[in-house]
Parts: sequence; structure tokens; C-alpha cells
Amino acid sequence: MRAVVTGGAGFLGSHLCDHLISLGYEVVALDNLLTGSTKNIAHLLGNPLFTFFKHNVTEYLFIDGPSTRCCTLHRQPLPWIIWRCRFRR
Ligand SMILES: NC(=O)c1ccc[n+]([C@@H]2O[C@H](COP(=O)([O-])OP(=O)(O)OC[C@H]3O[C@@H](n4cnc5c(N)ncnc54)[C@H](O)[C@@H]3O)[C@@H](O)[C@H]2O)c1
Repeated sequence: MRAVVTGGAGFLGSHLCDHLISLGYEVVALDNLLTGSTKNIAHLLGNPLFTFFKHNVTEYLFIDGPSTRCCTLHRQPLPWIIWRCRFRR
């Protein structure tokens, strides 16, 4: 199981990353560090289940492979992002 968390280095997003990893998810966190910080995810950076990309999610990003969840935890709406994740049903 894999989850993509945008805003993953924020207050809520980093806790969600913790929770999903505790459930056994592989987590891909995206964050441009506008208001978040790598301090919030420092404890996860060596975890093989966790991948972090410093990325502005208003810009295109291709994430290869399947994902079962995508969680967005920041204020900016994402009307024109094309998610290229393949979601399992
Ligand atoms: N913290 C709370 O108690 C609380 C309560 C109710 C609602 N909310 C809402 O939940 C959301 C998250 O709150 P939070 O406290 O975790 O905020 P936060 O600022 O800590 O987290 C938001 C994260 O999104 C990132 N981000 C912003 N724009 C981005 C972009 N374009 N690309 C990539 N990353 C981007 C920021 O860098 C940050 O890490 C907010 O919308 C907030 O209004 C929070």
C-alpha cells in the first residue's frame, strides 16, 4: 500500500505520514517547505517506507507506480494538477 501526502512536512501532514507508516503504508510526501519544515519529518528520513520530495504541488510531478491514497494538507487548491499516480481501487 502506498500513499501520497502533499503538505507532508507540515504540522498535520507530518503526523499523517507517521500514522500511515505505523499502518504499514509506504508514504511519498511532497512539500515545498513554504510553511513546513524538514524538522517535522526528520525522524522519518531514514525510514525505507518514507520518501520525501521538495516539490511545489502546483507544478507537474510524475509519481510512478500504484498508490492507494492521496491526502492533501495545505490551503492551496489544486485545480489543474494532473495526478499521474495509478490508484488501486
Ligand atoms: N493545524 C490545525 O490545528 C488545523 C486545524 C484546522 C484546519 N487546518 C488546516 O489544515 C491544513 C494544514 O494545516 P497545518 O497546521 O498542517 O499547516 P502547515 O502550514 O504546517 O502545513 C501545510 C504544508 O503544506 C505545504 N505547502 C503549502 N503550499 C504548498 C505547495 N504549493 N506545494 C507543496 N507543499 C505546500 C507547506 O510547506 C506546509 O508544510 C491547513 O489548510 C490548515 O488551515 C489546520
